[in-house]
Amino acid sequence: MAELEVKQKRLNGRGLFWTWSPRSEKEAGESIVRNLLLHWFPAKVTLKSLSWGYSLWLGTITAALFLILGITGVILMFLYVPSVERAYQSIKDIEYVVSFGWFIRAMHRNAAHLMVASAFLHMVRVFLTGAYKNGIGVGQNRPLNWIVGVVLLLITLLLSFTGYLLPWDQLAFWAITVGTNIAKSAPLVGEWIRFILLGGHEIEQNALIRFYVLHCFFLPSAVLILFSYHMWRIRKDGGLACVDNLVLSQKKEKVKDGIKSKTYSLLGLTTGRTVQVEATLLDEEKYTVNSVPFLIRRIGLVMLGTFIFVALISLFINAPLEEPANPNVTPNPAKAPWYFLWLQELVAITTIRIGGFVLNGAFIGGILIPGVLVLLLAIWPYFDKSSNLNTGVWFGKERIRQNIVFLVLCFFVILLIIIGTYMRGPNWEFYFPWEPWPEIPKKF
Ligand code: HEM
Repeated sequence: MAELEVKQKRLNGRGLFWTWSPRSEKEAGESIVRNLLLHWFPAKVTLKSLSWGYSLWLGTITAALFLILGITGVILMFLYVPSVERAYQSIKDIEYVVSFGWFIRAMHRNAAHLMVASAFLHMVRVFLTGAYKNGIGVGQNRPLNWIVGVVLLLITLLLSFTGYLLPWDQLAFWAITVGTNIAKSAPLVGEWIRFILLGGHEIEQNALIRFYVLHCFFLPSAVLILFSYHMWRIRKDGGLACVDNLVLSQKKEKVKDGIKSKTYSLLGLTTGRTVQVEATLLDEEKYTVNSVPFLIRRIGLVMLGTFIFVALISLFINAPLEEPANPNVTPNPAKAPWYFLWLQELVAITTIRIGGFVLNGAFIGGILIPGVLVLLLAIWPYFDKSSNLNTGVWFGKERIRQNIVFLVLCFFVILLIIIGTYMRGPNWEFYFPWEPWPEIPKKF
């Protein structure tokens, strides 16, 4: 009876329908199309896009980390109080009084660091596979999706930066002081940006509540909206870029075998112009599988793996909590969050001292060089003139030179972060990790 009812519901096209093991193409398609959570996935995907080696699944890992941040963040919101008088104490309670509070906090903090790293690595993968390039599909706009990605990366950095202040301890207070002082050095608008961000000239209650609202509401909402668009664009672009490459290589093969591609004209079906549709040459049987269960299973696996990894490292790596914030005690050295340390390092390198005269590098190192780099990064797809045979291929032949330059730049950014993290001591002097730092009296 129950089975009959289910069957009837299926036939009527009503009710939610889901199965891990579809018995026909139709059931597999329906498991995607008629499911509220899954309907934005395509019914079929190529085996190549499912492979571990093409995308390294870094985008999905980044999305999984964002999900972990959302869940642990909401739990923390029940306990955290965004007030200068109570913020530190509420974090201390989470850490030492609330059951498993330390664990939820560690998961949140570790996932935040990992999200910055995985969004960056995902960008590196997209660059090296030339996946920002259009291929052969009609209406593709992959360069736009790359720009959306760059904005997502910047928002991810801001999301982490705004969260940094919330514990209101010495680490938080001085990291934000260094970070916002770099922003201040932008010509004309720098002071204004810092003022707007902090809600005043000092890091006080106004800054805390602004960072809190940005961190808990505006920036996560912006990530959600842009991420949805990011995914929608991938579908509009005909799937991951490796699909274009697959079709192109099949086309070559078939032309060699004497089977030519056909072009259908849809003249008259749409108003005003002729639409040419190239018949897809992809051998569906050989190269594609149903999204249910193959794609969904793999996404589930990647998400579960990410969750287990974050949970495991959080057992060993706890979130730090120093002394309460004290604007009168300056730590020496005062360091920005690790992902901004390459900027702090650039500022130090470009600061010129001639006798008693100091030319501060904050503008050149903190604004100009990174500003030009980020702008170039965003518009690079429009400069890349390599052929579409290089779309969606690791280290495409015509893109070797640009890949090398990109990797060298990434290497320098990472090197500066490592130097800033492990080799800068009091007064930003250079020390090898094994060298002891001199005793410096605290500055009051
Ligand atoms: C919050 C950050 C981000 C999330 C959650 C995210 C998520 C994703 C996901 C799930 C995919 C599908 C393929 C994969 O797993 O690799 C993807 C593809 C893509 N992403 Fe991202 N992404 C983010 C940031 C970025 C950044 C920083 C860039 C580049 C600057 C970027 C550019 C692209 C492009 C061009 C594709 C299509 C790749 C292809 O066709 O092979 N994304 N993204």
